[in-house]
Amino acid sequence: MEIINTVARLSSVVEAARQEGKSIGLVPTMGALHAGHRSLVERARRENDIVVVSVFVNPTQFNNPDDLRTYPRTEEADAAMLRECGVDFAFMPAVEEIYPEPDTRVFDLGPVAEVMEGAMRPGHFNGVAQIVSKLFAIAKPDKAYFGEKDFQQIAVIRRMVEIEGFKGLEIVDCPIVREPDGLALSSRNVRLTPEGRAVAPHIRRVLLKSLDMKAAGLTPAQVRDAVVAEINAVDGLEAEYYEIVDALTMQPVATWDEARNGAVGCVTVYDGDVRLIDNIRY
Ligand code: PAF
Repeated sequence: MEIINTVARLSSVVEAARQEGKSIGLVPTMGALHAGHRSLVERARRENDIVVVSVFVNPTQFNNPDDLRTYPRTEEADAAMLRECGVDFAFMPAVEEIYPEPDTRVFDLGPVAEVMEGAMRPGHFNGVAQIVSKLFAIAKPDKAYFGEKDFQQIAVIRRMVEIEGFKGLEIVDCPIVREPDGLALSSRNVRLTPEGRAVAPHIRRVLLKSLDMKAAGLTPAQVRDAVVAEINAVDGLEAEYYEIVDALTMQPVATWDEARNGAVGCVTVYDGDVRLIDNIRY
């Protein structure tokens, strides 16, 4: 595995691979890699000739400076895991390499980016679109892999791909990987206190219970309110939002039938000061 720090070098190795007719899989990450990332990388390894993994904590997608400052950074362990997974190129650039000048692009991401994370974290999805579009332009992947924990992010990236016209690029969404007790893997989990870690599995427990609520005939709004109430009843947890949305448009639905592409419940919960997200399909 080669660790690459410059855009010029990455462009040159992917160009050489393309000349040889090789397919390229890209896994964009912000590092602090865990088994969830590993599953993306292993899938990319199975499905492509060349695998590129980017490790870059993208400042433009953080609307909270403290969140950026405290975001876990574990470059050496990340490189070791990627080497073990048989990755060809780990792209680990400095901020100045990606943003020699401020990126002033504003993407017209539309309604998918206006709700939930888009409403709570102004500018977040524009920053995601900035970095992911740059990575796509440099690595020119055939396939790019994203975890479904960030369910809305995948919809936003699909929209960005449409706007930017990245032809022949397949966005591959991959299932959430969980701890045995149900907690969705996240780089932020390392910041949980022991008490916070102990209560975190209640998020998944309540989401699973919400499937029974639907089966019992509750409307999406009733399920939403019950989920928020049950999460908030756990000491140490506070739901920021729970929305039941159409799986493609990300728009909240009033009835289950309105979710033409299937219904997904998306939740954000503060566990102490750690912001956790999760989701469930109905
Ligand atoms: O999901 C993430 O880790 C980030 O948002 C991504 C897609 C790597 C862009 O920085």
